[in-house]
Amino acid sequence: MRVKDKVAIVTGGASGIGKEIVRLFQQEGATVIAADINEVALKEVAKWDLVHAKVLDVSSEESWSALASTVEDEFGRIDILVNNAGISSEKPLEEISINDWDIMMRINSFGPFAGIKHVAPIMEKQKTGSIVNISSYTAQIGLGLNAYSASKGAVRALSKAAATHYGRQGVRVNAIFPGVIETPMTQALQSSSQMLNQLIQATPLGRLGTPEDIANTVLFLSSDESSYITGAEIVIDGGFSA
Ligand code: NAI
Repeated sequence: MRVKDKVAIVTGGASGIGKEIVRLFQQEGATVIAADINEVALKEVAKWDLVHAKVLDVSSEESWSALASTVEDEFGRIDILVNNAGISSEKPLEEISINDWDIMMRINSFGPFAGIKHVAPIMEKQKTGSIVNISSYTAQIGLGLNAYSASKGAVRALSKAAATHYGRQGVRVNAIFPGVIETPMTQALQSSSQMLNQLIQATPLGRLGTPEDIANTVLFLSSDESSYITGAEIVIDGGFSA
């Protein structure tokens, strides 16, 4: 019961990594708000004990403002925010339209910013809180995922800046950099045996990551076990970028 009685918001909580974070948090005693734009997928996690599904569009400031005040009103506090929702794209740079770029930035970079903007003030009032931002290993190495990598680089810098800004108010902010994880987002890669083999060859631990690999570290950073850790960056990629 490593996060017992804590109130946690997990964005993108209806699929992949976020869904596993929701499952692990509720198993460890937290009240979890699974927040996602996909209302259909949310119905499954809503059946789990201690889980409350809320529709959220991370790219909308109004949606964030409504979620933060609803959760504060209903549950009295917010202890944990996991900014996990995201989208990906692999277009070559010259094929990326301004609209493609804006959508990527709006969801992957603005989303975590707006989440911190609306949730951190509630944590400041409490004098405690933990925010975990899911960036990507592509923010740290050149892999040709241009708009995606840039959007995740923004999350990296935002995490550092927010960690220094909120530290004295008792709010910690850390970032995680997953490698390739087995989720719906990486379905195309998983089903190409050539790409999969190349990737596994290049990964010292010799396999893809699982949502559990990421959720376990998110749990640690969200719990009081990491109470002196803020502004940290944890790469979880089986050694791919080592
Ligand atoms: P996924 O596609 O399985 O899940 C993403 C979730 O985000 C979905 O439930 C989707 O409905 C939700 N979402 C998308 N746009 C949204 C919006 N505007 N508002 C609210 N929710 C929205 O993806 P996965 O793999 O679980 O990814 C989770 C996070 O991890 C993402 O930020 C992704 O960029 C990051 N990541 C994933 C890696 C991987 O290999 N799967 C590697 C590195 C980072």
